[in-house]
Amino acid sequence: MTGGRFDGRVAVVTGGASGIGLAIAERFADEGARVALLDCAAEAGQAAASRIAAAGNVCEFFYADVASEASVIEALAQLTESFGGLDHLVNNAGMVLVKTIEECTSDEWDRLMAVNLKSVFLTVKHALPWLRRSAQPSVVNIGSISSFVAQQRTPAYVASKGAVLLLSKALALDLAPDGIRVNCVCPGLTDTPMFRFHVNTSPDPERTMRERCNRVPLGRTLAPREIADSVLYLAGPESSGITGTSLVVDAGYLATAEWHRD
Ligand SMILES: NC(=O)c1ccc[n+]([C@@H]2O[C@H](COP(=O)([O-])OP(=O)(O)OC[C@H]3O[C@@H](n4cnc5c(N)ncnc54)[C@H](O)[C@@H]3O)[C@@H](O)[C@H]2O)c1
Repeated sequence: MTGGRFDGRVAVVTGGASGIGLAIAERFADEGARVALLDCAAEAGQAAASRIAAAGNVCEFFYADVASEASVIEALAQLTESFGGLDHLVNNAGMVLVKTIEECTSDEWDRLMAVNLKSVFLTVKHALPWLRRSAQPSVVNIGSISSFVAQQRTPAYVASKGAVLLLSKALALDLAPDGIRVNCVCPGLTDTPMFRFHVNTSPDPERTMRERCNRVPLGRTLAPREIADSVLYLAGPESSGITGTSLVVDAGYLATAEWHRD
């Protein structure tokens, strides 16, 4: 498509095969960007890229395990070869582990931290030479409401998302002299395969869904598209004066101390 905010720009989205990442890739493509969709789920990633491209957009899939430095370097080499550079990087790939500290093994802790946190270090580090060459470069990292408040039975996830928020601020400071803006979007309960998996594997999925939604002032889960709209805002020219901040998109979740749905 042409005539969009991101015409002529190259956007890289990690975890773009599913959920929020897929919606971000679709929105970038709708707005004219050429999109590199990175994921470790090769079949789903390829299918998603083909669907986006079939609508008349430019979107290519590149395999990447974002926890692996070699894999990140390889994917960035391939996509910059294909697109000639990159302008916007969105670190969205992530995983959840519902285990207490006693249940969580040391290897599981390391893997989650590598996927959710080290990935941001790796992609920014190795994309930096390309971002420096871009006219208005930006990085958007996906945090969570768990960047601000904890929930039970997810110590590794909560720690990783808290760190993604502060890493975003630290990178914003260090990269400001290069004109590279770094911000964080923090979603609340968003209806994605990850979220559905958690609801559906609970003892009473219907009740779990009802209870979750009752904790949200707007009374519903968010659509991935609602998160994607905020990511595009922070990636693009309308937020040219914003760096080192976070945008919470949570349907009111973090505003509550006490909350009862009547
Ligand atoms: N869904 C929610 O309620 C919610 C809330 C807050 C934050 N988030 C965050 O949003 C992001 C996207 O979550 P989602 O709900 O869309 O999940 P999802 O499981 O639907 O999608 C995640 C994608 O990341 C990919 N991925 C996972 N590990 C990877 C790796 N090592 N390398 C490359 N790709 C990898 C998966 O294959 C998948 O395509 C995550 O960072 C998550 O923590 C989600």
